[in-house]
Amino acid sequence: MAHDSIRVVQISDIHLFADKHAALLGVKTEESFQVIIDMLHKQSPRPDFIILSGDLTQDFSEATYRRLAEKLRTLSLPIYCIPGNHDDPKVMARVYPLDTILADKHIVKNNWHIILLDSHKPGAVEGYLHPSQLDFMQACLKQYPEHHAIVVFHHQPFSVGCAWLDNLGLKNADEFWAILMQYPQVRAVLFGHVHQEHNKKHLGMQCYSAPSTCIQFKKHSDNFALEKLPPGYRWLELFSNGAIQTQVFRADHYVGTFDVNAKGY
Ligand SMILES: [Fe+2]
Repeated sequence: MAHDSIRVVQISDIHLFADKHAALLGVKTEESFQVIIDMLHKQSPRPDFIILSGDLTQDFSEATYRRLAEKLRTLSLPIYCIPGNHDDPKVMARVYPLDTILADKHIVKNNWHIILLDSHKPGAVEGYLHPSQLDFMQACLKQYPEHHAIVVFHHQPFSVGCAWLDNLGLKNADEFWAILMQYPQVRAVLFGHVHQEHNKKHLGMQCYSAPSTCIQFKKHSDNFALEKLPPGYRWLELFSNGAIQTQVFRADHYVGTFDVNAKGY
């Protein structure tokens, strides 16, 4: 049945390896990702599309990006993606579009408009929005001034209260916010990278992040630490009046293990 709202799933920080049995700090990333895919098969109502908000792979190999597409194909949903620090945008551009993974960085549906930006900084863990990305964002926002908008990129554009992670956020966040504030049609900013769930306002703008589908970073920790939480994803419903309803679903039934003594990754 047709519905007025737009239903979106945000999946983040999959960190898939070419070796399907490989683990990141004790978590078999393909296994935990499969748990999320299984949950999405049962998700009702079904989403209209999925956004992968970066760190799709751990090794950024072509083979891994292909396997990711193969796994997601079973959901029969359009999938959009952006790179994270663990990705290689050039390899992604070579491999995608493939199966259900699209290469589009701009989604217009009903009276909503979602803009996907690349905050990958070559050779760095921290993020940066190149002037070409900020120009792209502005061009999109100018093109559809009457549409409600969401901007998505990988790195967090404000402090999340973890000193080690805050050092690895979006380096030119001030520049980003100065531009974004000129466009009142923006309803939310979505990001990944922090392997934590956030739902907070920054400079009056609603910001959301999704948990990782593998390891979870401990909240309010100044040093690197993992948290014993199941993998998950964020569900968003976008209404025609600009309202957003959202919640995080976690695989509570999944008992995974991780390296409790990990000091970094
Ligand atoms: Fe990540």
